[in-house]
Amino acid sequence: MNIEKILKELTLEEKASLCSGSDFWHTKSVDRLEIPRIMVSDGPHGLRKNIENAQNPNEAIKAVCFPTASALACSFDRKLLETMGKALGEECQAENVSVILGPGCNIKRSPVCGRNFEYFSEDPYLASEMACAHIKGVQSKGVGTSLKHFACNNQETRRLTCDEKIDERTLREIYLSAFEAAVKKAKPWTIMCSYNRINGVHSSQNKWLLTDVLRDEWDFKGLVMSDWGAVDDRVEGIKAGLDLEMPASFGKNDKLIVEAVNKGELSTEELDKCVRRVLELVDRAEESRSDAVWDKEKQHELARKISAQCSVLLKNEDDILPLDKNDKICFIGYFAQKPRYQGGGSSHINSFKVTSALEAVKEYCEVEYAQGYITDEDKTDEKLLKEALECAARNDKVVIFAGLPDAFESEGYDRTHMRMPECQLELIEKISEINKNVVVVLHNGSPVEMPFINNIKALLEVYLGGQAVGGAVCDLLFGKVNPSGKLAETFPVKLSDNPSYLNFPGTGDDVQYREGIFVGYRYYEKKEMPVLFPFGFGKSYTTFEYGNMTVSSEEINENKTLTVTCEITNTGKRDGMEIVQLYIRDKESSVIRPIKELKGFEKVALKAGETKKVAFHLEKRSFAYYEPSISDWFVEYGEFEILIGASSQDIRLSKSVYVNSDVKLPMYFDFNSTVGDVMACDEGRKVFGDLINKFCNTMLCSNGDGLGESSQDMAVSMFKDTPLRGILGYDERPEFDRKMLDEMIDTVNKLMEG
Ligand code: BGC
Repeated sequence: MNIEKILKELTLEEKASLCSGSDFWHTKSVDRLEIPRIMVSDGPHGLRKNIENAQNPNEAIKAVCFPTASALACSFDRKLLETMGKALGEECQAENVSVILGPGCNIKRSPVCGRNFEYFSEDPYLASEMACAHIKGVQSKGVGTSLKHFACNNQETRRLTCDEKIDERTLREIYLSAFEAAVKKAKPWTIMCSYNRINGVHSSQNKWLLTDVLRDEWDFKGLVMSDWGAVDDRVEGIKAGLDLEMPASFGKNDKLIVEAVNKGELSTEELDKCVRRVLELVDRAEESRSDAVWDKEKQHELARKISAQCSVLLKNEDDILPLDKNDKICFIGYFAQKPRYQGGGSSHINSFKVTSALEAVKEYCEVEYAQGYITDEDKTDEKLLKEALECAARNDKVVIFAGLPDAFESEGYDRTHMRMPECQLELIEKISEINKNVVVVLHNGSPVEMPFINNIKALLEVYLGGQAVGGAVCDLLFGKVNPSGKLAETFPVKLSDNPSYLNFPGTGDDVQYREGIFVGYRYYEKKEMPVLFPFGFGKSYTTFEYGNMTVSSEEINENKTLTVTCEITNTGKRDGMEIVQLYIRDKESSVIRPIKELKGFEKVALKAGETKKVAFHLEKRSFAYYEPSISDWFVEYGEFEILIGASSQDIRLSKSVYVNSDVKLPMYFDFNSTVGDVMACDEGRKVFGDLINKFCNTMLCSNGDGLGESSQDMAVSMFKDTPLRGILGYDERPEFDRKMLDEMIDTVNKLMEG
């Protein structure tokens, strides 16, 4: 496509028309110039392609549902995500879909955000690594992705209008950085802007977000589309860099664009930028079309393998798992027969088949089954409960399939609590009273409180494991697959422990992010707060030993990379996989920072007895925090600790490195700067040192002996906090006036610039 030529030939009306969809899922065509339309479709963990002209407009084609993002992230497995991405790409090629809408890499600010099942993690590094792998996989098949929802769509309550009030450091370190790395490393074809406002401005018309940060800073070259119905002011959107409005606005907003150009309120250049990007996307999609075969059965098997890598074994007392085929086992709970394997809303897949655990277990042995509870309402069904108790009493081992029913979590609303249905809790409690060998398998999109945790022997957190989840669960329960997932988010003991608790989901549209950068484990660790299960935690049927840590240098320059290695040995009797995590801790920071932050991870497969070396490469950014005063990432010189562990709370190895940096933050003193701050820098001491020391001594003497030693400390401390203007009162010389003080302050500032 000769885009520049086409741009010259398009009329104003045609240009405006290209800036919005033709219907729910297509861009517009311009037949006269042979510009075709292309199709975009949900995403992210399967293809939800609506059947055109179907009686029910929401009816989608039969497809394969993979585990959702909250499960996928627990695999910490880049290759696995890429493989899934490739499968999705093939589906799209086979179905003529040019862009699949996802992945979503919003941060889990609160465990009760209704859409958390579609997001990866509370940690931006993990979220971005997962998003990168997903994007790379899909796009390797010549199909685009739409990284969403940019940005700060962290709640469903009033998601179209709410205003997320977030300071810049928090935005950059937590809420933007997952997008940043994914944009820079994986180059998604498109980005979907979010519904909400950020600090007063809708994302769909936020120039700072869509142009200054996304394009100018991160060098994003693709197209920005709106979330469905997220456009507030279309003309402002064009100016801000929102290229494509989705879905169709039935020409209404296109008309406003034309009017704005005619009135001189919008320049043709501004409009052309958006049109060019729409044409580039269409061209790219057309060029990348290929024939692909979509083998659904094969993908179902892949979904089973992926799901098994995502489940997290959270408890396994007395090594009750894996189960022995010869044990007398029963499965209890409706989810054994009908697993909850995906969430509600735009990502809902019309699965071509679903395998339940009850079906899959036949590959292993016979089990007895009792339904135990209902899911359409939270009410104990006495008959089902009685049957379940009798069944549990007759068997040696009981596997209870429990979790959150569909109505508990979905796109469109948030949970108001973190509890499981009371009827399920009652069932677990009563069964654990009569049988000591209880294993609980959980199907849920996000964390739940677990009042039963001490009464059961084992817990397998499956999340929403996709349509083949039943097979995966059985593979794990019977030890065909050794569990290797680890939590991509903290499970707090109770909802009120969560840092966003007091401000989630806000008052009206006003949502204050008062917890700042302290999201997830960053908060619980800083507060020394006990959690139910920490970030990065997960067990295996084998054991791993960590050793021989090395760092390529103990002293580094802020711009140098650092290589860290260690050795992991499988010390148990089964083959297994370990997720090795690397955290960095700034030991002497002048700003408030988390205790530590995840900056690397590797998943390593080890045969029983085998040892492998794992390597991590750290760069400047791994040590940096975002410093608003310079609008940039900043590394302070000093000591940092590199921590390697099996979870955020299980650090096995550590080494210190010293980071040298000549970069200093710009400092500027004025009349209100304190004596302590001025005396803390060389330049300040040079100019003010003698004078201030003299006053300090005078003051200590004049306060006299009678005050005792602690009072002397108090006097020094108070003097340190005195603003420079205050020292005028200590000097009786008439020439030491405001003017002279100003000159001295000026001298210090000049020396510092200097
Ligand atoms: C969701 C998006 C989705 C779009 C299209 C919106 O409501 O927020 O994630 O891609 O609908 O279905």
